[in-house]
Amino acid sequence: MNTALIDAVNTQIALELDSALLYLAFSVTLKSHGLPGMAHWMRRQYTEENLHAMQLINHLEHRLAPVTIPALTRPLFEWEKPIDIFRLALAHERRVTLSINELVSLCQHEKDYATQYFLFDYVKEQVEEEHQIVSIIDKILLCGPATSDLLSLDNELSTRT
Ligand SMILES: [Fe+2]
Repeated sequence: MNTALIDAVNTQIALELDSALLYLAFSVTLKSHGLPGMAHWMRRQYTEENLHAMQLINHLEHRLAPVTIPALTRPLFEWEKPIDIFRLALAHERRVTLSINELVSLCQHEKDYATQYFLFDYVKEQVEEEHQIVSIIDKILLCGPATSDLLSLDNELSTRT
């Protein structure tokens, strides 16, 4: 594999692991504020992000390319309401989408069709990720002032498998 592309995939691994840690922090925060369903949803997201990182690691290993394991970066964020957390998640996923798109462009430039093909799942996944979070934000916005609305949504999110 081309060195620039190996570096870019390693950067993406770091971003996926950063995503995992961010979702874990969101989960802990939501749970501490009495929203276990949203916390569960975020914890499922944490698991998915770790899987994304692992699949990229496997791809580099299969191509006999070096893997760099990044240092942990503590997620820092401020929030007042649950919607703030989901808006932060959406902003983060949009950054991830840009990063994946740049990675695909680099694959095309370097004619690394194996990596480009491998990344197709990531391109599709980003559409799904953004859509899911936008849907939750829309539902939170539809909640009235009654706490029961938010708790009902929280209960719905607890069913994510
Ligand atoms: Fe991801």
